[in-house]
Amino acid sequence: MAIDFDLVKEIKQRADIVDVISYYCSTVQKKGKGYVAVCPFHDDHDPSMQISKERQTFHCFVCQTGGDVFTFVQKYDKCNFEEAVRKVCDIIGFDDPRLHKQVYAKKIDENLVPVYNCINELQKYYVYALTTDEGKAARDYLEKRKLSQEQCAKFGVGYAFKDGNMTIEYLKAKGFSLKNIENTGICKAQTSGMSDNNQGRLIFPIKDANGQVVGFSARKINDDPEAPKYVNSPETVIFTKGNILYNYYLAKQNARHDGYIYVVEGFMDVFAFDTIGITSCVALMSTKLTKQHIELLRKLGVEIRICLDGDKPGQAAMMQLMAQLDEARLPYRLVSVPGEVRDPDEILKQDGEDKLKAYVSSLVDPFNFALNYYQNISPLGSIEDKKKVIHHFMPMIASLDSRLVQDDYIYKLAEATGFTSQAIRNSLKDFRRKTTTNAPALTYVNEEVDTSLNLKKIDRDVRRLTLAERTVLDLMFVSDEAIKFYEQDIKYFYNEVYRAIANFILEQHKSAKDIDSSAMIDELNTLDIKNKDEIISEITAIGFRKDKEQYSKKILEDCQVVINEERTKIYEKNLLKQECEGKSPEEQARIIAEYLKKKQK
Ligand code: UTP
Ligand code: MN
Repeated sequence: MAIDFDLVKEIKQRADIVDVISYYCSTVQKKGKGYVAVCPFHDDHDPSMQISKERQTFHCFVCQTGGDVFTFVQKYDKCNFEEAVRKVCDIIGFDDPRLHKQVYAKKIDENLVPVYNCINELQKYYVYALTTDEGKAARDYLEKRKLSQEQCAKFGVGYAFKDGNMTIEYLKAKGFSLKNIENTGICKAQTSGMSDNNQGRLIFPIKDANGQVVGFSARKINDDPEAPKYVNSPETVIFTKGNILYNYYLAKQNARHDGYIYVVEGFMDVFAFDTIGITSCVALMSTKLTKQHIELLRKLGVEIRICLDGDKPGQAAMMQLMAQLDEARLPYRLVSVPGEVRDPDEILKQDGEDKLKAYVSSLVDPFNFALNYYQNISPLGSIEDKKKVIHHFMPMIASLDSRLVQDDYIYKLAEATGFTSQAIRNSLKDFRRKTTTNAPALTYVNEEVDTSLNLKKIDRDVRRLTLAERTVLDLMFVSDEAIKFYEQDIKYFYNEVYRAIANFILEQHKSAKDIDSSAMIDELNTLDIKNKDEIISEITAIGFRKDKEQYSKKILEDCQVVINEERTKIYEKNLLKQECEGKSPEEQARIIAEYLKKKQK
């Protein structure tokens, strides 16, 4: 872990879980000794999440989510532990040099530090140039495009002086080597006549996911038809185009709250979205969507909203993205208004904010988007093409619960392809038959055997065992006797999560510490083990549980009886299962019958 353990502890002491959860949830209220809130982790209507100021934990008994302040932020913002720690610092307004040092050391390759320093210096220089007399033309252009000063500051917009050689001389004077200057991507290193490729243009810095500038895109501000509209940084040691989505750094912070992320074509579209208050928006910069882009989007864990130009190439590109997102199994919808061919920036400029807001809220699902595409933009030609489309949508239609919705889709599909509804319904029937008969016959047989074994009953046994183990575990938190009893008589829990917690207790007990659930969570936060979430959730649950037994020797002994009985049963059944493995169904039935007979005696 990059942030040190002591610092995390210190942050946790300063952060009050009630304050931090209140920052995210407006429903936190005092109730009895603790606090409650409407749980944000399931579809909750009553306040079913409990928060303890005393223990600095939360727990929801409905969805079984629980933990400390960092767990809450991790789950809410879908981020990792380290990010959660930083967020908590932001929320409570705590800063410490150790927070910064660690990341720098971890994330940046030492060799690249001079290049980053150089490009940061250059970025500052571009921003400065925009404020000078020569920068006036660029400022006028920005005004014409309706970009406010706040927006320019937010996106780091700058200007490159016409004297491109002066820019290079400036960086040299600052002590950067020719190689480092070349690595910023603005020119080739040579002994004489080096000049900034971006000269005389408006500068849009391109940042990576951490907000570090890695390249530039420079737009022309005159209307010279010979000049390319944008000059882009080439790939360099710090810039790989396929890894970068424009504005990802800013967008990722908002997307998790908004629950969606828009994917648009260009810079101007990102600015247009920003103007109408949508900050969860990234641009492809006219490249294809790469695997790395998909992973960046996946990490956000939110709905993707594709919004490319309404013209034919834009719509064809959306069809291409659909196929990629389907394959990646990411949830998405598409912005589509039939007949609209402008890009978001043009809509904003010509029709105003409300029209753009309405446009970006016109979201359709992939099915309806594809149908519209085939009907109005690129009609299906051959019978083969039409069949392909029907096959493509079959699994989706078959999975629909509502007969009404299904009929609606079939009707639309019929209209788009020219097949009759009846023909499509037949092909749905075929599809269903194929998918059920393809299921391996073996599972059917196994199911039969398992029923005769009475799986439900095993379940009930496990529940009885779990309850007994849980009771012992609860008592271990409050009684040394119970700890000794576990160590000597019970020895281990069948339930993995309880077993892990019991081990923590033994560890703390050995070092003569008080049993401290908060310290357990701290330690768990630094570990990388499976079941981690469940263990943390269980520890917090124990704190909030109301049905806890008072300690007595008698209760422990009762528990032990149940635990021994149930363990024997499970042990026997597991033996039985092993014995049955690989045998014919008849053979299995015989083994089970014998077991049951023996049992009855
Ligand atoms: P657009 O042509 O739609 O540009 O290309 P735009 O962002 O809307 O800009 P305006 O409104 O014409 O000023 C979309 C994106 O494709 C990339 C840029 O990233 C642009 O934002 N592009 C376009 C280039 O890299 N080079 C070009 O010459 C044109
Ligand atoms: Mn445009």
